[in-house]
Amino acid sequence: MDTTKLVKELQTMRESGYLSDAILRRAVRSLHEAEDRYNWVGVYLLRDDEPKLWLHNYMGAPTEHAEIEVGQGVCGTAVAEQSNQIVQDVSQVENYLACNPRVKAELVVLIRAGDEILGEIDIDSHRKDAFTEEDEQAVQTVADKLAEVLMYERTL
Ligand code: SME
Repeated sequence: MDTTKLVKELQTMRESGYLSDAILRRAVRSLHEAEDRYNWVGVYLLRDDEPKLWLHNYMGAPTEHAEIEVGQGVCGTAVAEQSNQIVQDVSQVENYLACNPRVKAELVVLIRAGDEILGEIDIDSHRKDAFTEEDEQAVQTVADKLAEVLMYERTL
């Protein structure tokens, strides 16, 4: 997946005056459309006031996990361990939070500005072994642009 065009689009949106809300939504929609393997794509943001992730927006089936505590599930583990997560078989993860029984694999890429974690991009696939390091790197370019957008908005 080549995310160069998407990253440029997100930058253009910021320069045109779009707020992060629209840019986060565009990123999620475009990633969801980019690959058939990406059955569910969402952005979680870390709350300021408590150690919880909050679902900003998503494409795919509704989930009951709109809030996830840091340390819980694949999403909360990514924040607790400050590292991206590639899970090729979710049945092997002890504290996995199931959204949909069809999901077999999950990729979580952190949205971070330096040491500060702002949130994450979460992608679920119905295929086992769905994700490669190339997926992680490509999604990271989008996550890095979202981090820039969120940090820029703090200066407004
Ligand atoms: N499976 C995730 C929960 C979020 S849903 O995939 C949308 C987890 O274990 O953290």
